[in-house]
Amino acid sequence: MRLLVTGGAGFIGSNFVHQTVRERPEVEVTVLDALTYAGDRASLAPVADRVRLVEGDVADAELVDRLVADADVVVHFAAESHNDNSLSNPWPFVQTNVVGTYTLLEAVRRHERRYHHISTDEVYGDLELDDPAKFTPETPYNPSSPYSSTKAASDLLVRAWVRSFGVQATISNCSNNYGPYQHVEKFIPRQITNVIDGVRPKLYGTGENVRDWIHVEDHNSAVWAIVDRGRIGETYLIGADGEMNNKDVVELILELMGQPADAYDHVNDRPGHDMRYAIDATRLRDELGWEPRYRGFRDGLAATIDWYRANEAWWRPQKDATEAKYAQLGR
Ligand code: NAD
Ligand code: DAU
Repeated sequence: MRLLVTGGAGFIGSNFVHQTVRERPEVEVTVLDALTYAGDRASLAPVADRVRLVEGDVADAELVDRLVADADVVVHFAAESHNDNSLSNPWPFVQTNVVGTYTLLEAVRRHERRYHHISTDEVYGDLELDDPAKFTPETPYNPSSPYSSTKAASDLLVRAWVRSFGVQATISNCSNNYGPYQHVEKFIPRQITNVIDGVRPKLYGTGENVRDWIHVEDHNSAVWAIVDRGRIGETYLIGADGEMNNKDVVELILELMGQPADAYDHVNDRPGHDMRYAIDATRLRDELGWEPRYRGFRDGLAATIDWYRANEAWWRPQKDATEAKYAQLGR
């Protein structure tokens, strides 16, 4: 199989490429990545001799056409992915997430290729803390931020291209990932690297907001299950029953790093901050037989802390610029 992975130098995409090289040696992997601030060649260094990395934009129609023509399957991870950035400057989100997805869809339509679209649970908006409900594939779209609205738009393009043009596509909407190679702008790596630097973790607002954490390896094994066995035109929700509020996550990071559990600060809240996400992954489990391997968040988090301690050379170059952006926002 010739596989084109967009965004393969980012957090989830690079872990997907590592997993693929490790577990599916027969797959020929090409990565298309613009190497924005969020993409890093170094994330692919351990597999560099097994992977072709093409530096380029998913909205570059000519380049995309050529790469799609040479692939059997396309898995599209590339995106502008950070909510806070989308609140400061939404335009790159519209360009990459919407126009970029459109560009890929037109290429897979022309060349009749299998396409898998990586998306987020944020397209469904948020849930109340005391609501027993979880997101299902039938939950209506109700995105809150420029990031999540552009991801919702991209999902709807995929659905339309399946129905109108018969494109062979599947979609997955996953909850919050954690693990190695995640940019230090994101919640968990930001707090781990703050503690390493002797800086107190920063909790937005009250810290009651709940995210449904899943290890990145489990997200990626689910993506492979869908590519292998998913029904064309179907949407699969990916989650591992990992609901936890931000305050508890920060306290666990502090405990695992040998600090007092209250050694953090509350900072300005994110405008429009979604309260709670929760995934019902019944379809994925029952139909495709997928199960997560990382069942203990505590152990997965401890391993992630070890990874950031051991890989300071990977994250250090991004840290000051990231914190300077947050300082301007009072966060
Ligand atoms: P990331 O920001 O770490 O990586 C994004 C990658 O895309 C980077 O390598 C970047 O260089 C590349 N990229 C950005 N714009 C591009 C363009 N125009 N052309 C080519 N490459 C471009 O993001 P991530 O957290 O790894 O997320 C990957 C995907 O998974 C996204 O589609 C995101 O919406 C989705 N997702 C993320 C999470 C999460 O918790 N991080 C959860 C569910 C879904
Ligand atoms: O749900 C899936 C989504 O998860 C993905 O689609 C996004 O790409 C990914 O970035 C993530 O979005 P969130 O906005 O949930 O992730 P983030 O890491 O930015 O924040 C997680 C929670 O932690 C959120 O409630 C905001 C809070 N937070 C974040 C930061 C950076 C803090 O309290 N302090 C912080 O310093």
